[in-house]
Amino acid sequence: MRTPFVAGNWKMFKSVAEARHLISELVPGLQAVEGVEKVLCPPFTALLAAAALLEGTDIGLGAQNLHWEISGAYTGEISPVMVAELCRYVIIGHSERRKYFGETDETVNRKVQAALTHSLIPIVCVGETLEENEAGQTAQVVSRQIRQGFAGIGGFFEASSASSVVVAYEPVWAIGTGRPSTAAGARAVVVDVIRPALAELFGAAFSQAVRVLYGGSVTGSNAAEYFAEPEIDGALVGGASLKVADFTQIVKAAAG
Ligand code: PGA
Repeated sequence: MRTPFVAGNWKMFKSVAEARHLISELVPGLQAVEGVEKVLCPPFTALLAAAALLEGTDIGLGAQNLHWEISGAYTGEISPVMVAELCRYVIIGHSERRKYFGETDETVNRKVQAALTHSLIPIVCVGETLEENEAGQTAQVVSRQIRQGFAGIGGFFEASSASSVVVAYEPVWAIGTGRPSTAAGARAVVVDVIRPALAELFGAAFSQAVRVLYGGSVTGSNAAEYFAEPEIDGALVGGASLKVADFTQIVKAAAG
């Protein structure tokens, strides 16, 4: 079945020294939890130090973005080859990147293809804004993000490789607001929109095998509600992933 998955998205927080400190505090508690795929996604500058600290643990390392070209004159960008040197995972299409950095379904698609080409596991974020939610457009928006984000990549997937991609449903209105979606609301989008869209693209077996996470104001105290929904396979955690006790509690909750 689907192995629970919990990733911490550190966003633009933590210097190298702070990252080292946080990781050394997190590792013992996270290592003690079995049966959960655990991933930390610090800023690029902390990846090298993080990789060294996580070596020999069962905790994975992820980046928060990449560029789709393997090299070239792209000042300020990081290529999939560079990310793959240090990481096994990469967050793609986070709503903050869509909102502040012009990321579109098309660039998400290019990045997903680049990640898969370089054997990175993309954690692909989808989710509607508050306005879209209030206008009743959630299904339409999320389904479009899935179809366009995963367009033209059927060749990468068979049922057996569904573990090579993770989808995170993150309603934008729930991110960093302390106003999470209800577990039932998140489940409805996963069951009625995300898995059917994946099934249409890659078949029913694939859509049932891929991990779909919830993200948006997940904390140590509410995480278990999401994981009690069999269709929600884990969480993408922002703010609470920077707190040792909270993040450890979330990972424990995912183990059941
Ligand atoms: P949050 O962020 O947990 O702070 O709401 C989630 C995310 O942006 O992935």
